[in-house]
Amino acid sequence: MANIRIKCAQIVQTVLEDKVFFGDLKTQIAAKDLPFANMLILTALRHWVGLNRLLNSFLNKKIPNKHRTARYLILLAMTELLFMQTAPYAVINETVKNVRQTTDLFLSRLSNAVLRQVAAQAEELRQKLAGESHLPEDFTAILSGYDAATIKQIDDCITNIPALDLSVKENPRIWAQKLSAELLPSGSLRLSANANVPLLKGYHEGAWWVQDAAAALPVLALGNVAGKKVADLCAAPGGKTAQLAAKGADIAAIDISADRLKTLQQNMQRIGFEKVQTFCADAIDFLQKTPEQFDALLLDAPCSATGTFRRHPEVLHLKTIADVQAQAMLQRQILDHCASALKIGGILVYSVCSLAQAEGEQQIKTFLEQNKNFRLIPISAAEISPFGTWNAPLITSEGFVRTLPFYHGGMDSFFICKMQRII
Ligand SMILES: C[S@@+](CC[C@H](N)C(=O)[O-])C[C@H]1O[C@@H](n2cnc3c(N)ncnc32)[C@H](O)[C@@H]1O
Repeated sequence: MANIRIKCAQIVQTVLEDKVFFGDLKTQIAAKDLPFANMLILTALRHWVGLNRLLNSFLNKKIPNKHRTARYLILLAMTELLFMQTAPYAVINETVKNVRQTTDLFLSRLSNAVLRQVAAQAEELRQKLAGESHLPEDFTAILSGYDAATIKQIDDCITNIPALDLSVKENPRIWAQKLSAELLPSGSLRLSANANVPLLKGYHEGAWWVQDAAAALPVLALGNVAGKKVADLCAAPGGKTAQLAAKGADIAAIDISADRLKTLQQNMQRIGFEKVQTFCADAIDFLQKTPEQFDALLLDAPCSATGTFRRHPEVLHLKTIADVQAQAMLQRQILDHCASALKIGGILVYSVCSLAQAEGEQQIKTFLEQNKNFRLIPISAAEISPFGTWNAPLITSEGFVRTLPFYHGGMDSFFICKMQRII
């Protein structure tokens, strides 16, 4: 494990300093080490604010910047001591060796002293951290539209491990039984986080795909699309494209990224939806140039992805208000081109996996004020809950859907709205 711990420290350093998604670095990890590395890195990033506060409280002076790998190694070792099942002596011995190997003797002695104290007080420190905030300061600014009680609930669920949610091609009740899964009100299935995806029944026959319960709601809001021409404007990796295909839509799936579109094609092949037409293009270009007028558009827009922090905790540390503003501008540009490719009477569903209201509620209120050729169609509870009732208020007074990470046992945070082109 010695080298994998150094590798994990380097990966966390790259994620946080070079602003790279952890998912994009996983190829650097050997398959046999992936379960351990995944658990270690994700747990560390979920607890990062508290771990740093705690480490600082043990240090008399800062670890020099040139030796910051030692800091990452110590923080990961603290993660293991406090939140994982590794034997403390193994974590401490390996980390002391690794710090010596990557920095110097003084820091390896320091790491030994700090980690021994953490191990000795583990239970007390766990409780202390659980009672404190996990929100990074910059991220708090993104939540400015929420009241203090909501922000506290968001904060409280940061360290939770999300369940595994699946969308099925058909017969959710039957698949819920076959997989011993919980059937959610939307028809998504929920399994425990540690389910082994390729080993689950139905994986190889393409009976379902992994998709967070909230991510499945925009297509439900589109209503009946059987036989209708639908453009999925930012489609990859294709969770929503697969839902549209399962509902019998005639789909054009567009994405600007060739790599991500390739993943979408592979996903469609596994699920057996090879007929989906794909276009590698900027959505704006596509909307301007397509000779077709669509019955419906799904704009699952590029966004800050701040609503996905449960599965991608690095967004807590990487995303700032500046990212929200940049994405909001791009979303507005794509929205402004939607009318030309949509039939009069056609439906536009707009969604973002963002907590920021600038990308959701505020974006759409301004768009509707300035675009009188669209009207808002309130989304109904029946549309997004055909199999039961959500135990949280997913629909706002305006008729938007706003999910929050602590709703119904946990779901990604999405904003969804439905509009109709009227002239
Ligand atoms: C939120 S993800 C889409 C997720 C997808 N709808 C799903 O359900 O699997 C946003 C996607 O937008 C794509 N994208 C970003 N800018 C774009 C643009 N200008 N035109 C088209 N696609 C774009 C990204 O490559 C990314 O795949």
